[in-house]
Amino acid sequence: MDKKIKNIIKIVLVGESTVGKTCLIRAFLDKKFQDTVSSFSFESVKKEIKRGDTTYNVFLWDTAGQEKFRSLGKLFIKDSQIVILVYDMANRKSFKELSFWANYAEELLGKYVTLGVAGNKIDLFQNANEDEDDDKYISYEEGKKYADEIGALFRETSAKESPKDFQDFVVELIDKFLNNRKETEKEWEVLSFEKYNKMKKKSKCFGSK
Ligand code: GTP
Repeated sequence: MDKKIKNIIKIVLVGESTVGKTCLIRAFLDKKFQDTVSSFSFESVKKEIKRGDTTYNVFLWDTAGQEKFRSLGKLFIKDSQIVILVYDMANRKSFKELSFWANYAEELLGKYVTLGVAGNKIDLFQNANEDEDDDKYISYEEGKKYADEIGALFRETSAKESPKDFQDFVVELIDKFLNNRKETEKEWEVLSFEKYNKMKKKSKCFGSK
């Protein structure tokens, strides 16, 4: 396999609208948190991440969470190595909807995909009033149990208050993927030069810091 292709990792973020995918991508790039508007397109950012002696070109894809864009989101899962399922921990519906994406990733990529579950907006829970109903929030145990069921790594995140947690989570997922690579190598080759060039062309960093 060509070294250049081997060192590309494609990660896609999926989940309901407003769970914080775009903000997590900004956090990944260490950009300042800012309120965002709903995405109507699919964009990627690229960051070089060194693991051992190798530098990987990591493409992180943002998908639009609105229901009308779902079929497009599915297309983006197709040739990903890592899929991160994002929910808003103060929005139970967004948690329930994860199974849609998990089933799709499993159906399409089976054991070749590395899955992550990110319970975003943990700051809302941490800053909640004492008299607020705790049941409103998805607990750590619920999130972890679901992630274990689907064989995913789990992390509670806050794009707003702890971007580093999400950055670390991405690295943890990359390490898991690389550890499994021997098994997945054959499937990985499907990422052709044409696709890589297309990804490069489409890739653009969000705004400035
Ligand atoms: P779509 O583009 O519609 O799919 O939404 P999205 O999942 O990309 O959500 P986005 O990143 O646009 O964030 C939606 C809203 O949630 C924005 O108002 C953000 O400011 C807010 N938000 C995102 N992450 C966090 C977080 O960690 N904590 C808090 N409190 N708010 C957040």
